[in-house]
Amino acid sequence: MDSIKKILVADDGKKFFIRSLTEDFHTQFGFVAKAALAKAKPGDVLKTNTGKELCVFEPSFMDVYSRIKRAPQIIPRKDIAAIIAETGIGKGSVVVDAGTGSGALALFLSNVAKKVVSYEIRDDFAKVAEENVKFIGLKNLTVKRKDIYGGIDEKNVDVVTLDLPEPWKAVEHAAKALKVGGFIVSYSPTTPQVSDFISAVAKNKSLQHLKTIEIIEREWEFNERVVRPLSQQIGHSGFLTFARKVKK
Ligand SMILES: C[S@@+](CC[C@H](N)C(=O)[O-])C[C@H]1O[C@@H](n2cnc3c(N)ncnc32)[C@H](O)[C@@H]1O
Repeated sequence: MDSIKKILVADDGKKFFIRSLTEDFHTQFGFVAKAALAKAKPGDVLKTNTGKELCVFEPSFMDVYSRIKRAPQIIPRKDIAAIIAETGIGKGSVVVDAGTGSGALALFLSNVAKKVVSYEIRDDFAKVAEENVKFIGLKNLTVKRKDIYGGIDEKNVDVVTLDLPEPWKAVEHAAKALKVGGFIVSYSPTTPQVSDFISAVAKNKSLQHLKTIEIIEREWEFNERVVRPLSQQIGHSGFLTFARKVKK
């Protein structure tokens, strides 16, 4: 995938992702000449050949993230936000993540953490995630082709995030990998998965179950006096369960 060089945005919010500065860029509003694209700086306003104005800015993490390849189901941003906020992952954090899938969660984590190692059992998904890592340009994220139910190699880890069909099978390994004070976060769509995960946490004397939550996001439309919740919303995504290692 070619990297995104610039973003153009129309007055209705429609965004255009510029991957080449050596070709004219065609839109439904006409085209922008390559010479203008090459010279454009953030804050400039370009005109298409039909006179439509397009504002220029540099691609942010979110702009590039919005164009990643998707293989299996990704974790929505509302849930990723809660994972980061509840565990305090920051620039000093070392995180182990599994399974990688398309890498959506792992990419967000590595955008704020020191280092992320993400375990993926399927080579095809690992390849998609590695392409996404390269596309977004993160250097602190490694995709490891390994079954996490077989063990975690890393030690002294701050947070382990699990988005797996059977997260309870990774609890013992996560407890060993974590530093005291570190967190395990498990993301599961169904309640039987949550129950089995919490039972496995309860069996490990070094861990405490903190809480299980579901994040509900309700977007509203604001269109003059039509002010109401959107009729189409994200439905259920998953439950987030947080546990903490409190002793060795
Ligand atoms: C729902 S996807 C993860 C999506 C990812 N969290 C994201 O945000 O893009 C679950 C992934 O776990 C992987 N997986 C399943 N069992 C695994 C295991 N034992 N070890 C490592 N990865 C595993 C699957 O191949 C799949 O890619």
